[in-house]
Amino acid sequence: MSLLAKFERYPLTFGTTPIEHLPRLSAALGGKVQVYAKRDDCNSGLAMGGNKLRKLEYIVPDAIASGADTLVSIGGVQSNHTRMVAATAAKIGMKCVVIQEKWVPHYDAVYDRVGNILLTRLMGADSRLVDDGFDIGIRKSWEDAIQSVKDAGGKPYPIPAGASVHKFGGLGYVGFAEEVANQEAELGFTFDYIIVCVVTGSTQAGMVVGFAAQGRADRVIGIDASGTLDQTRAQVRRIVDDTAALVGLGRAVRDDEIVINPDYAYPAYGVPSNETNDAIRLAARTEAMITDPVYEGKSMQGLIDLTRKGFFPEGSKILYAHLGGAPAINGYSYYYKDDGAPTRPQPAAISEPRESESQETLPPLFP
Ligand SMILES: Cc1ncc(COP(=O)(O)O)c(C=O)c1O
Repeated sequence: MSLLAKFERYPLTFGTTPIEHLPRLSAALGGKVQVYAKRDDCNSGLAMGGNKLRKLEYIVPDAIASGADTLVSIGGVQSNHTRMVAATAAKIGMKCVVIQEKWVPHYDAVYDRVGNILLTRLMGADSRLVDDGFDIGIRKSWEDAIQSVKDAGGKPYPIPAGASVHKFGGLGYVGFAEEVANQEAELGFTFDYIIVCVVTGSTQAGMVVGFAAQGRADRVIGIDASGTLDQTRAQVRRIVDDTAALVGLGRAVRDDEIVINPDYAYPAYGVPSNETNDAIRLAARTEAMITDPVYEGKSMQGLIDLTRKGFFPEGSKILYAHLGGAPAINGYSYYYKDDGAPTRPQPAAISEPRESESQETLPPLFP
């Protein structure tokens, strides 16, 4: 019986997402483990989908019941989350205000015009650019936006960054864990590890609770992309506890069941390293699977590096949770402008190990 049976869900996704075997990526990594992807990046027809829609499915009933007329949320300039909140508002016929803070020290002439923010504007959201830097906590700019809706006579429904510290924010990914168990029964095998990117926390926290019910929460390996590990870990811990109580897990989740690897978040949130870009290229060139420089490229980098280091025992089956986010890559085109040319950069994992690309070919991080 599902832990989610007692919760109302407003469908925004197609339903169960496919699990895809990635044989060419597995072979490129040495063939000792088999890599699969659960394609939450293809979970919906709403504005290119992604992980936030799983969360929002459990939040929308509360928003509608509250009598609100405006969803108010927050993220970075290239936030996937604000795109998904804008999409949800359009789909359910509400207005939308989103704060887009300057979370990323990345400079590209069209960064605030393409990708996620373009789609957000296209869907009619009132997207407000704010100069403040990265922080996954509760922000004054967001509180001001909520007040501004009230001042204009509207009724706001606040959704925090990543929908994470919302009381129902962890539920969607409890459902992910249950879905995986059902798919494993059909596939006839179980996964040994699940790789997931973590920043605001409710994706991994929901998975941890869902997989804890199956006795394997510690098989979820969070790959931090925030670069603020302590804050992210504390937030995951809190959401695990709140979500476990909410669904009636019936036991406390231990600290050692929450696994977060901090090794791939460098040099900063939203800025890809050379190794992140190599990981993005490798997934694209072996499987045509597009990952982004902010989130999924970093978890892909983690998956690749851990595999090459022999972290996963031979014969392991690894499930990479692809959470979406590809539109953001449009804001990073400079990194890939020479790809495809005869002198293009080769991903380290499929060519001979090589020195990292010269930083001189990349735009300055802090001009
Ligand atoms: C594409 C993508 N991957 C991963 C994450 C991280 O998920 P969470 O914020 O729930 O930790 C996010 C959102 O922050 C995202 O948009």
